[in-house]
Amino acid sequence: MAQFRILLLAAILMFSGVVVDAYGPGDNGYVGLRDDYYGTSCKDVETVIKKAVQAELAKNLKHAAGVLRMHFHDCFVEGCDASVLLDGPGTEKTAHVNEKLAGYEVIDAAKAAVEEVCPGVVSCADILAYAARDSTVELNGTAWAVQGGRKDGTVSLASRAEAELPPPEFEVSQLIDSFARRGLSVRQMVVLSGSHTVGVGHCDKFVSRLYNFNSTFFTDPTIDPAYATELKNICPQHTFNTTIEVFMDVITPTSAGVFEANYYKTLQEHKGLFTSDQSLFDDTRTKATVTSLLNNERFQKEFGKAMRAMGRVGVKTEGQIRTNCRAVNTY
Ligand code: HEM
Repeated sequence: MAQFRILLLAAILMFSGVVVDAYGPGDNGYVGLRDDYYGTSCKDVETVIKKAVQAELAKNLKHAAGVLRMHFHDCFVEGCDASVLLDGPGTEKTAHVNEKLAGYEVIDAAKAAVEEVCPGVVSCADILAYAARDSTVELNGTAWAVQGGRKDGTVSLASRAEAELPPPEFEVSQLIDSFARRGLSVRQMVVLSGSHTVGVGHCDKFVSRLYNFNSTFFTDPTIDPAYATELKNICPQHTFNTTIEVFMDVITPTSAGVFEANYYKTLQEHKGLFTSDQSLFDDTRTKATVTSLLNNERFQKEFGKAMRAMGRVGVKTEGQIRTNCRAVNTY
């Protein structure tokens, strides 16, 4: 009987056109977000954002990776509420962990374009979620439907960003824990890490793997030796340079990156840049997932679903629709 009721409910939802997105624990039981949220209040919002994002990325495609990362850094600190966008002393963007976060101007341009057509309607948190999808597509990634309905927060603290964002030294247990605390599964964590198929890392983020690694090994033995030599040439010991960039995906090392499954291949070849990357292949809990995501079609499909789940983390139903994404409304 109970089974029949569930089937009946599923059928009603299916035929009523309600999107049932039961993708693991990432659902967070939160139902305030919807596909086509602005369908009546600002029907062209997604096209307006896409055009603004494309125009900005045409000036600097490297910002595409920046915007994708920015959405992650937003969602993991105070939830997806655009707290990362707030300017001012001691806000999240001033945190060391956000030092290299790039592409704020992409969001400014998208917000300005949206305010032209629908003033005061679309939150900055939603704009960031749409822009992250559009940026991924500009790098050849597959699009996904982005849900809307997030409100903008008013709290933004550098100390919270430092405490909440996973550092590159994290191993699988710590990564699992960090994502689980946001209702995201182990598989979703591995899928989302696939973002590292685009963009760059800086020497200071991985130099501890190259020199004086531990009391047994001078260099992290999980790095392919030839790759370790290459990295040492780029990042010499004792040169504390935080401006030198290394492509995270050595298989398609183009300046902005190409969004595909090659990241997982780099892990198989022991060329993952950070411990948080390489350990996904070297740990029995995540290795099979890494292998299954070598299939690009599967990766792209799962990535969109996982981004939807990440986009639901800590979403606020109460809050503002900021006029300027960089400042809290004062009225
Ligand atoms: C799993 C835990 C994660 C860790 C430990 C981590 C860590 C890092 C680090 C250290 C960098 C390089 C920063 C620098 O050198 O300046 C980076 C870059 C990046 N991360 Fe992550 N990340 C994680 C997950 C994610 C997720 C979930 C996303 C997106 C959904 C993401 C997207 C990116 C992108 C696109 C870049 C390149 C940014 C650019 O080139 O401007 N990362 N990440």
